[in-house]
Amino acid sequence: MKKNILQKIWGFFDERYGVGELFEKEMCKKIPNVDWTYCFGGATLFFFQVQVITGILLLIYYRPTIDEAYNSVINIINNVPFGWLVRGFHSWGSNLMIITLLLHMTRVFCQASYKNPREMNWVIGVGLFSLTLVFSFTGYLLPWTQLSYWATVVGTEIPGSIPVIGPYLKEFIRGGESITQYTLSRFFALHVIVIPAMLAGLLGLHLLIVKTVGISEPVAEMKKREKRS
Ligand code: HEM
Repeated sequence: MKKNILQKIWGFFDERYGVGELFEKEMCKKIPNVDWTYCFGGATLFFFQVQVITGILLLIYYRPTIDEAYNSVINIINNVPFGWLVRGFHSWGSNLMIITLLLHMTRVFCQASYKNPREMNWVIGVGLFSLTLVFSFTGYLLPWTQLSYWATVVGTEIPGSIPVIGPYLKEFIRGGESITQYTLSRFFALHVIVIPAMLAGLLGLHLLIVKTVGISEPVAEMKKREKRS
C-alpha cells in the first residue's frame, strides 16, 4: 500500500528511534475509569500555555516603563493587528487559569487524591498555587492603570503588616518606599521570566509524579469495585 507523507515521516522516526513503541506504552496505558472532574488539571495546564504564548506576543509591543506602559497597552488594543484579541486571551486566560486551578484543587481534595502515595504532589501543588497567585498579582501592575497601581499599593501593604520583618519585606517588594519604576521593573522581571520558569519547572515535576504514581481512582469507582469483590 502506498504511504502518505505523514506515514512516511512517522515511519522515518519509528525505524530509527522506536517512537511507535514509546507512543503505545505511554498513550495507551490503562487508567482508572475517571470522570469529567479530572479534566481541570489539564485545563489549568492549557491556560498556562495560553498565557505563555499570548504573553510572548504581547512582549513584542509592551514597554515596561511608567511613562510608556499604559500607552503601549492602549496601542496594542487599538493599533496592533489582532492585538485586542491577544490581550483579551491573556487577560481572560489569567482569570480562567485561576478558576480551573481552584476547581482542580477542589477535585483533588474531594476525591482525597492527596493521600499516600500522592502527598508530595499536593505539596508541590501548594507551591504551584502560590506561584500562580504571584504570577497574576505581578501581571496586574503591568498596564500601569489607576486600578493596577492602587491594587499593588494594597497588595504590598499585606506583607508589610507582618510583625518585625513586614516593613523590610514591603520595601523589598516595592523596591523603595512607594510604587515607582523600580516596582514596575521588578514585577515585570518576575512576571515574564522568574515565575513562568519556576512554574514550568514545578509543573514538570508535578506531571512526572502523576505519570509515575498513576492517576487516582474516583471514590465512587473504588466503592463499586469493593462491592463487586
Ligand atoms: C498550575 C497549576 C496546576 C496544574 C497545571 C496541574 C496539573 C495537573 C494535572 C494535568 C494532573 C493530572 C490530571 C488531573 O488530576 O486533573 C494533576 C494531578 C494532581 N494535582 Fe495538579 N496541577 C496544578 C496545581 C495543583 C494544586 C494547586 C494542587 C493541590 C494543592 C495539585 C494537586 C494535584 C494532585 C494531588 C494530583 C494527583 C491527582 C490524582 O492522582 O488524582 N495540583 N495536576
